[in-house]
Amino acid sequence: MEMSAQCLIEAIQGESNAVVMYNSFAEQALKENLPNISKLFRMLACAEQIHIKNHKSALGPDYTIPEASEELNILSTEKNIAQAIAGEEFECKTMYPNFFKKIKKEFPAVYAKVAMLSMEWSSKVEARHAKQLTRALERVKAGEDLPLDNFYLCRVCGNIEVGKPEKECDICGHDARFFIDMDRTLKPDVEVN
Ligand SMILES: [Fe+2]
Ligand SMILES: [Fe+2]
Repeated sequence: MEMSAQCLIEAIQGESNAVVMYNSFAEQALKENLPNISKLFRMLACAEQIHIKNHKSALGPDYTIPEASEELNILSTEKNIAQAIAGEEFECKTMYPNFFKKIKKEFPAVYAKVAMLSMEWSSKVEARHAKQLTRALERVKAGEDLPLDNFYLCRVCGNIEVGKPEKECDICGHDARFFIDMDRTLKPDVEVN
């Protein structure tokens, strides 16, 4: 379990830093009168919290997670979005693929397969986050906020869809009932009831 556990711990640390960063970026966007971009950052923070929850479930209760907070670098919203895109792309193109290679060495152990599933979901979601942030960056560069999208968040994997999903989540496969209407709550209860 040591290799998979170490990867999960590092992933939890990275995702935890992203939560703090995105909540700070959300505040900065509000200061710049960009409420819809602020909402996107708040929602991305919720998605990262779902990744943390899944990784912690895969890790189990026998490990402690050391503090690994990074220094926050809060700039203008345009620059914050660019930092966020770089972070998401690092996670889905470098960090998670490196973890996949290490975790595969512990296959076919069930704990390794569970760790892999949690990380595959997160990695695919991060790639979507990068796309959503890229769209936001284009708007900010044009001097505009995002349109007031009605976002839905998959409470299982953190996938974000615009508009009420009619079918299952195409990342984790859970059906449309698992999506939370983010306009109703920006601090969703991420437990599956
Ligand atoms: Fe993300
Ligand atoms: Fe999902």
